[in-house]
Amino acid sequence: MADTDGTQDTHDYHLDTPQVAEHLLLKGCHSLDWGMKNRLSHIFDPRSGRTVMLAVDHGYFMGPTSGLERIDVNINPLLPYANTLMCTRGVLRSLIPPTFNKGVVLRASGGPSILKELSDERIAVDVEDALRLNAAAVAVQVFIGGEFETQSVHNMTRLVDAGNRYGMPVLGVTAVGKQLVRDAKYMRLATRICAELGATYVKTYFVEKDFETVTAACPVPIVIAGGKKLPELDALTMAYQAVQQGAAGVDMGRNIFQSAFPSAMIQAVNQVVHAGMKPKEAFELYQSLAR
Ligand code: R5P
Repeated sequence: MADTDGTQDTHDYHLDTPQVAEHLLLKGCHSLDWGMKNRLSHIFDPRSGRTVMLAVDHGYFMGPTSGLERIDVNINPLLPYANTLMCTRGVLRSLIPPTFNKGVVLRASGGPSILKELSDERIAVDVEDALRLNAAAVAVQVFIGGEFETQSVHNMTRLVDAGNRYGMPVLGVTAVGKQLVRDAKYMRLATRICAELGATYVKTYFVEKDFETVTAACPVPIVIAGGKKLPELDALTMAYQAVQQGAAGVDMGRNIFQSAFPSAMIQAVNQVVHAGMKPKEAFELYQSLAR
């Protein structure tokens, strides 16, 4: 029996104060359920509506690629500067400290290595395991125009159905086969298909011409992959142009962890994405932090 002696009998309902409804600043996400939005807020900074995802999942088909030989040594020191880590469950369980309390986007497709036809992927993580790992989202590769296009789209839609059951966002990753042209027309097609079929947000590549038409035609947030290693100023310029043209951030790997100074680079990328710092200024920041 609760002790009710001395219970106050006065109430203040703040009748003059309308209830505040805080929204998640993410396009196309207004209809999602609370749990899904809560997970997204561990990926996208609620203040800017943007994200710096640190992508280190390359080992799922490339093995120990340059810069990822020792994730404990090379990557863990960068975690304070990322909004989110994108990795495999193997790396998460074996190398990432459980005290890491930001979002984890879990690589959830796989199969072929770089020695084989890459588009022949399958779902590689059960959504139940993603929940067990407290993932903020699962990521699946979609190969529009690829040899196994339908299979890869089906991988995504199955994860979307499972994700919708449990409130787990799905990142559709548009993977462009070597034989395909990386232009705005292709990116519009690939990103729109991912969004139409239920991806919560989409990762694609930046293209120099008409990238704003890619973000405009995609009803959910787009983040850009960094792609192969570029000179730091070029990578910062790409990130700047992408967010200025509607991207909700970057999912950047090699341009950070293969930089001569990864910690300086991720801090400069952070300023470009969240504060709109111009590329030249961000490059100067990179240089000043490089050591
Ligand atoms: C590649 O397939 C992985 O999904 C990477 O996460 C993605 O490509 C981003 O990494 P990067 O910036 O190195 O391209």
